[in-house]
Amino acid sequence: MTAAVKQRFHAAWDSLLPIGLDVSTGGYRRYAWTPADLACRGWFEEQAHARDLSVERDAAGNLVAWWDGPEHDRRGAVLTGSHLDSVPDGGPFDGPLGVVSGLCAVDLLREREINPKRALAVAVFTDEEGARFGLACIGSRLLSGMLELPDAYALRDSAGITMRDAMLAADVGLHAAETIHDISQFSAFVELHVEQGRGLADRNSPIALGTSVWPHGRWRYAFRGEANHAGTTRLVDRHDPMLPFAATAIAARRIAQDSGGLATFGRVSVEPNATNGVPSTVNAWLDARAPDARTLQAVVDAIESEAASAAAVHDVSVDITSESYTPEVRFDSALRGRMAGAIAGDGLSIPELSTGAGHDAGILAAAIPTGMLFVRNRTGVSHSPMESADLADCLDGVSALATVLEELLCR
Ligand code: GLV
Ligand code: MN
Ligand code: MN
Repeated sequence: MTAAVKQRFHAAWDSLLPIGLDVSTGGYRRYAWTPADLACRGWFEEQAHARDLSVERDAAGNLVAWWDGPEHDRRGAVLTGSHLDSVPDGGPFDGPLGVVSGLCAVDLLREREINPKRALAVAVFTDEEGARFGLACIGSRLLSGMLELPDAYALRDSAGITMRDAMLAADVGLHAAETIHDISQFSAFVELHVEQGRGLADRNSPIALGTSVWPHGRWRYAFRGEANHAGTTRLVDRHDPMLPFAATAIAARRIAQDSGGLATFGRVSVEPNATNGVPSTVNAWLDARAPDARTLQAVVDAIESEAASAAAVHDVSVDITSESYTPEVRFDSALRGRMAGAIAGDGLSIPELSTGAGHDAGILAAAIPTGMLFVRNRTGVSHSPMESADLADCLDGVSALATVLEELLCR
């Protein structure tokens, strides 16, 4: 890789870094259709245009920058990219590294003077994290046909604003035809992503190939009791929903530990949320994941039963709603073989990793052959400002991605 491509990586990365950064926490708040998200989208269009790539946006806001192949024939095009939105106070790499690497892979492939037989598209998928509308991977779910546009438009954020109204307020202009990019025009999707655990941290390799995504889902627990005065209500007279919630969160940890799965209550909303009041309602969101569907089901069932018992003890009700579920995904083995072969041709052996994190690749895998590359994260921390990746590893990632794309574009 020449200094010029490295320089383009730096320039792209440095110009994205300030967007949506909360200086008090050091984390990113790039939620769908907020000014930070719009600025990220503007950044992407500028980067694409600076590379002579034409950008198309669909009715969900998914962006695709095209490097057209011979005779502008887009059939069988190869897709790469990731997302630019973040979780609350997320790190800089989760999503953006795949987008910047996709753009810089175009620079590197041009430098290598390859002769592509088909077009390459670099995508930014809408709202991968689901931080605003509660459903993860909205853009890729629409692309893969797992979600219908009217259902996506009707999703509401915590202020009751629908996704459609959020898009209208953002003044992005909804497409009259309301169409989604045609996924069938693509022959393969490869997503590069920062690793989100310690799978590579202690290994002598900057890059891994993704094998599978654990099944995972989100469930909303609504514990409902009775609001009352914190200073006058006798303990025996209370119907306090905080207590069964707390018992359920502790039980979830034990159940996950005993089963080899993961269970997290990372988001809670309390009503009326008064320091001097017994709450009336505690809404809590469970994120549960496991290496296989049976284990996940067992974890979810056991937590549900603990919640029911704890609610009964405190004489409150509990309603549990499944908000999303993504089954286990195994990435296409033929594509994985081609990816490993191409990277080995560059003299690198590459470890394989499964992941508990959700990705647009996990969704698109249901529609087209899909693969993933992970870039080492020295801290192993993600969904936090502590997320990290060394520059040298990121550049190795660009190089590996370009090598894989070259294989898919030219053979
Ligand atoms: C997305 O990063 C997820 O795993 O929830
Ligand atoms: Mn994430
Ligand atoms: Mn991500």
